[in-house]
Amino acid sequence: MSKTALATNNLEAFWMPFTSNRQFKKNPRLFVGAKDMHYTTADGRQVLDGTAGLWCCNAGHGRPKITEAVQRQVAEMDYAPAFQMGHPAAFELAARLTALMPSPLDHVFFTNSGSESVETALKMAIAYHRVRGEGARTRLIGRERGYHGVNFGGISVGGIVANRKHFGTLLGGVDHIRHTHDLERNAYSRGQPENGAEYAEELIRVIQLHDPSTIAAVIVEPVAGSTGVLIPPKGYLERLRQICDQHGILLIFDEVITGFGRLGSPFAVDHFGVTPDLVTTAKGITNGVIPMGAVFCTSDIHEAFMTGPEHLIEFFHGYTYSGHPVACAAGLGTLDTYEEEGLLTRGAELEDYWADALHSLKGTRHVIDIRNIGLIGAIELEPIAGEPTKRAFSAFLKAYDAGVLIRTTGDIIAMSPPLIIEKSQIDQIVGTLREVLQSLD
Ligand SMILES: Cc1ncc(COP(=O)(O)O)c(C=O)c1O
Repeated sequence: MSKTALATNNLEAFWMPFTSNRQFKKNPRLFVGAKDMHYTTADGRQVLDGTAGLWCCNAGHGRPKITEAVQRQVAEMDYAPAFQMGHPAAFELAARLTALMPSPLDHVFFTNSGSESVETALKMAIAYHRVRGEGARTRLIGRERGYHGVNFGGISVGGIVANRKHFGTLLGGVDHIRHTHDLERNAYSRGQPENGAEYAEELIRVIQLHDPSTIAAVIVEPVAGSTGVLIPPKGYLERLRQICDQHGILLIFDEVITGFGRLGSPFAVDHFGVTPDLVTTAKGITNGVIPMGAVFCTSDIHEAFMTGPEHLIEFFHGYTYSGHPVACAAGLGTLDTYEEEGLLTRGAELEDYWADALHSLKGTRHVIDIRNIGLIGAIELEPIAGEPTKRAFSAFLKAYDAGVLIRTTGDIIAMSPPLIIEKSQIDQIVGTLREVLQSLD
């Protein structure tokens, strides 16, 4: 076959990310359009978006303010060098983002993805201690079942076995505390589970094992998403903060999915009332329209670097596309949309309806747990004996055929619809899931 024929009518060349490539290519699922709450498939069907793309299209799809901002910027100035040069939109976006985040998280470093935000935050944490003369603080502590993207730092502090096991010895000097999943005590919790604040105490054991003077930072997702939605027990995040403070350790919240209204408040920082030293974000920052990420840091961290002769670079880190003009334009259009439509807090208004609808699935075939917070929901299924992940994957395929996009991880169904969702669409998601679950082997 000629290369052109291969290119025009063949799915082979594209090695798809986090996809069962052979299964997909036998029976492809292709989206060709998107507007508001719906995708259009290649065969012309409407599919309700129950996942905001990949937790990123918080304002829904095809939003005019964002589209126009991107179109305007790309025509006016396509690119400006990110190092030793600037452009107004990057400063404007940074100022607007920091205005959304509680003080002292007053500075922003731009990246292009969640994974890059995580690498940036880890490097910032280690370098921060070094510039202050505590260069022995190099260790990083993550958590079992944590997801922090796919780069080496992220998978090292992350705790998802499948994402780690093929990639050698990873970063040295990393340890983990246990995850917070506790089905026995917390199944069917609405919002934050009552039990498990004590899991934070394990941080003390790990800190003591290595000695606090060697530890740079602890990184957690305030709500663990990719592992299948693990909501922090009441008091847990507060206790992590206390322990870090007692030992001079930086606390990093990975808010790549919780940022930008997902929990019914602008950030998890607001929702839980716990202020970390660094916050990683991406996804909803541009509504998923143009790739972008951002790391927020405290004034203390920023000021620690701002020393020495002024002509010298203070932080030897950055990406060609840090603060890309088109991404910044998308970010500004996105913030306008969020603000005009009150989307950063809309999740709080819908949370009870969402929770009632999801928990009405209790007792449905195969369901062993249901959990929710903000506009996030998860349904954990009993795995098929000897065939983990298969039951949830079948649910995903059947839901797609029935016109609803969900996500699955292991045997957990995870949902995070755009924040513009209507109650009738919540009913549609839950009604479809009920039928799908009843029909599964
Ligand atoms: C908490 C968290 N951190 C990091 C990432 C990685 O983001 P990206 O895929 O943009 O690199 C994700 C992606 O889902 C995430 O959920």
